[in-house]
Amino acid sequence: MARVALVTGGSRGIGAAISTALKDAGYSVAASYAGNDEAASAFTAETGIKTYKWNVADYEASKAGIAQVEADLGPIDIVVANAGITRDAPFHKMTPEQWNAVIDTNLTGVFNTVHPVWPGMRERKFGRVVVISSINGQKGQFAQVNYAATKAGDLGIVKSLAQEGARAGITANAICPGYIATEMVMAVPEKVRESIIGQIPAGRLGEPEEIARCVAFLVSDDAGFINGSTISANGAQFFV
Ligand code: CAA
Repeated sequence: MARVALVTGGSRGIGAAISTALKDAGYSVAASYAGNDEAASAFTAETGIKTYKWNVADYEASKAGIAQVEADLGPIDIVVANAGITRDAPFHKMTPEQWNAVIDTNLTGVFNTVHPVWPGMRERKFGRVVVISSINGQKGQFAQVNYAATKAGDLGIVKSLAQEGARAGITANAICPGYIATEMVMAVPEKVRESIIGQIPAGRLGEPEEIARCVAFLVSDDAGFINGSTISANGAQFFV
């Protein structure tokens, strides 16, 4: 039977490309989304991938949503914690609301997504956890104290989960995308975006599918000894 994969924020942007790549690789895929019903319906109509609505910032909602996915598709073997938001502002203008929204979704959301599936992975002695971090968690970013904190936090999460899961056949890895052509990056003021592209030696934004292919590799059986690592996919913009 096909392994079951959950992709949070899986109906748009990088998440949609990941959901599609995993379906194409033969997995049974569920994509969660937070609010955009129209985009989720269109995604399901186009790809046949089932979408589920819950807020990853809410633990109980995540637990219930995951239970529904497992009732429909079977136990989750692969979880891709991709859902994320930005609330960019220079630190002196950043509000507690902007800080909390990003922490709750991008960091606590990873806990809320992985924690409910972890016991089952341990029991079945197999699991793949991939967290979508960011170049800005590695290097920091002007106007992203909140976002960079969560994306750096992701790296701590996977390095710790890797150590806890290794004996149980579970791997946990992070991908740090650079600037990818998605709505999130397109929301950056055009002048700023042009200057960012100028800092990318590849001379272009990345494509969502370039991140999806990294995920497909990390969740495969071939990647079983890759655990606790960080893959940077950023067109040579930044090296750790
Ligand atoms: N480095 C240094 N200075 C910068 C800067 C930067 N990257 N960006 C802006 N500044 C400067 C501006 O030139 C301006 O300086 P002056 O006052 O001397 O003119 C000042 O900082 C900004 O002042 P503003 O009052 O204009 O700032 P604002 O409150 O309007 O905020 C902003 C504007 C939110 C910073 C906006 O410029 C912005 O969105 N910048 C992009 C931030 C960014 O890169 N976000 C990444 C989003 S993509 C993503 O997150 C995906 C991923 O994982 C890669």
